[in-house]
Amino acid sequence: MSPVQELEDIEKEALRALQGAGSSDRVRELEIAYLGRKGPLARVGKTLGTLPMEERRTVGQAANRVRGLIESAIAAKLANLDRMERAGRLEAERLDITLPGRTPPSGKLHPLTEVLEEVVDIFVGLGFQVAEGPLVETDYYSFQALNIPQDHAARSMQDTFYVNTGNPQPFVLRPHTSPMQVRLMETTKPPLYVVVPGVVARRDEVDANHLAQFMQIEGLAVDEGITFGDLKGVLDVFAKQMFGANLTVRMHPSYFPFTEPSAEVYVSCFACDGSGCPTCRGEGWIEIMGAGMVHPNVFRAVGYPPETTGFAFGMGIERIAKLKYSVNDLRSFYENDLRFLDAR
Ligand code: DAH
Repeated sequence: MSPVQELEDIEKEALRALQGAGSSDRVRELEIAYLGRKGPLARVGKTLGTLPMEERRTVGQAANRVRGLIESAIAAKLANLDRMERAGRLEAERLDITLPGRTPPSGKLHPLTEVLEEVVDIFVGLGFQVAEGPLVETDYYSFQALNIPQDHAARSMQDTFYVNTGNPQPFVLRPHTSPMQVRLMETTKPPLYVVVPGVVARRDEVDANHLAQFMQIEGLAVDEGITFGDLKGVLDVFAKQMFGANLTVRMHPSYFPFTEPSAEVYVSCFACDGSGCPTCRGEGWIEIMGAGMVHPNVFRAVGYPPETTGFAFGMGIERIAKLKYSVNDLRSFYENDLRFLDAR
């Protein structure tokens, strides 16, 4: 084999070996093996002196070329391995310094909506249906049909917003949800078990305990042989589910034109168990609603026989929510301050 051929074989072999080298240490080994003093290039170099002048030049040039090729292949391989080793090291030494993601705040129901739904749910559980009626209501349904005639002193109990529609028939913003008792009975035969949640409005001076617009829920049960005991039983179940199983329900005689007898409904204070605290203003009892047996005149107005039996009740949702969440000022419910709304 001629020395030039030999050199070409050395070149091929060296390049193949370099290609397969997996570490820089291995490349250094190959560098010594091929380019070192005891390597094949050196061996060819030593024979140069024995060659005739002409061939000496050709072989010498070929040897230099092969050396140069192998050297640059080594340099390239080392650079490549270095890059890979560095990438591997970075990967292995990786530190997770990402911050937790920002969770967008999720919305939730307004406290009044929550309380309203809770109240409705309790009555639905007792077999009541749910109905809704108009906020703009006639004088007839708001007062007359509820046994509150034009000149009745009870009219002054409700300071009402009147709506000028140009119609001779006076319209009002309903001052209570009771008109729906009449509308429901007009269109339905007993038995009737319904609750009516809804917005009402009164010309009240707005302060910590009064709003000009708020919500009520009306209840109406009409069936054969309904007694005051049924009323008390239903309200007892409601109060215990709403405020706590250990409380006592008490009813005081009261007056509403559309019920006879009428009652104010109290629960023993769930905050202090009745011993007297700020929640019950030291009374031990908290008023939660008005109620009574439907007045025969209301039955007459809807065309029911006056001896029909039924009970009704009405309560303010804001008041219930205020008690439930120990809120001092009713206006907080309508200010939409997220600090308040998120506080539950
Ligand atoms: N409508 C009364 C009010 O707004 C509340 C009320 C009292 C409703 C007694 C009733 C009831 O159905 O029986 O103050």
